[in-house]
Amino acid sequence: MKSLDILTELAQLGNRIDPKGAVSFPIYHSATYAHPELGKSTGFDYSRTANPTRSVLENAIAGLERGCKGLAFASGMAAITTVLSLFKQGDHLIVTEDLYGGTFRLFEQIYKEFGITATYVDTSNNDLITQAILPNTKAIFCETPTNPIMRIADIEAISKIARAHSLLTIIDNTFLTPFLQRPLELGADIVIHSATKFLGGHNDVVAGLVATNRQDLADRLTFLQNALGSILGPQDCWLLLRGIKTLGLRMERQQQNSIVIASWLTNHPLIDEVFYPGLPHHHGHEIQLNQASGPGAIISFALQNKDDVPKVLKNIKLISFAESLGGVESLITYPFIQTHADIPLERREKLGINERVLRLSVGIESIQDLLDDLAQALKK
Ligand SMILES: Cc1ncc(COP(=O)(O)O)c(C=O)c1O
Repeated sequence: MKSLDILTELAQLGNRIDPKGAVSFPIYHSATYAHPELGKSTGFDYSRTANPTRSVLENAIAGLERGCKGLAFASGMAAITTVLSLFKQGDHLIVTEDLYGGTFRLFEQIYKEFGITATYVDTSNNDLITQAILPNTKAIFCETPTNPIMRIADIEAISKIARAHSLLTIIDNTFLTPFLQRPLELGADIVIHSATKFLGGHNDVVAGLVATNRQDLADRLTFLQNALGSILGPQDCWLLLRGIKTLGLRMERQQQNSIVIASWLTNHPLIDEVFYPGLPHHHGHEIQLNQASGPGAIISFALQNKDDVPKVLKNIKLISFAESLGGVESLITYPFIQTHADIPLERREKLGINERVLRLSVGIESIQDLLDDLAQALKK
């Protein structure tokens, strides 16, 4: 059969697997599974190790990311924690400098104590990446687009640098999802998601996903998932599967809204700068066009005056002032005090994550309603 369009692939996730013909794959709550006889197993023994509902979700993300193995975790942070457990004391990683604050916190306040260190670089600059390689460097860990300044890393070029130095390439693909960007096809070894965001898509489940196309990494990550126990429960696996079925529709609509909003914001007198990879002047726009099929639905922008921020956050009505992104409901976040609060002040300022920057996660609402809300909140 010819390969299916991704919209079809998404809609059909979980279908034709259940032996009783359930179209929506059932939730297996059982923590344990009976063995037919000594030395025999149904393939499921204990739900931390493997669970039928989780397996369907894990196979789904493996397929969507074009990997050989997918793994589901209790949160994006649990996914990242498990991936970082591939490393040992003395190992060093090169990490995107303006990445999610929680990932920075994990490196700096937990893994550093275990002797795993990180150098933070602007991963939109390949020379800086090469210069940061040390004898003990083991991996390059990137977000692209970055959170919240939306810098673009060239995944193919970075994967080549990594391979030439026997390093792993790990990409946090939360902002674009496999609907728009597939890092494994561009040479990366591991893809990570906060599935809480676009994959889940409804702000109703916290989850993490990982995919890899290397069997050795698949085996080790499977071991770590079971050993650390950082799994996603069956109910949440089902919710996430249900959400992913409409990923394409949501992403197309959210992106369409974002393209209109980004250019509207660009022309607004109170706004100094708009960070959105869909804008032709955005740094990395060309790379984004080459490596992804769209710019996504996250827009950050800097107001001219920081004193306008409290007013905007108070006046905004339809768009919720809340931490997170990717859902059908539009959200506005203040990274300086929310998602990136754990990054030291000096570093935040250097990265441009300052008191004037807001991040908008654009939902599926009517574009006119969203523009009207932004217009009234941004009135002088
Ligand atoms: C890019 C990115 N990666 C990872 C995470 C962590 O995911 P979670 O909140 O699901 O633990 C987040 C959370 O905001 C994120 O934005």
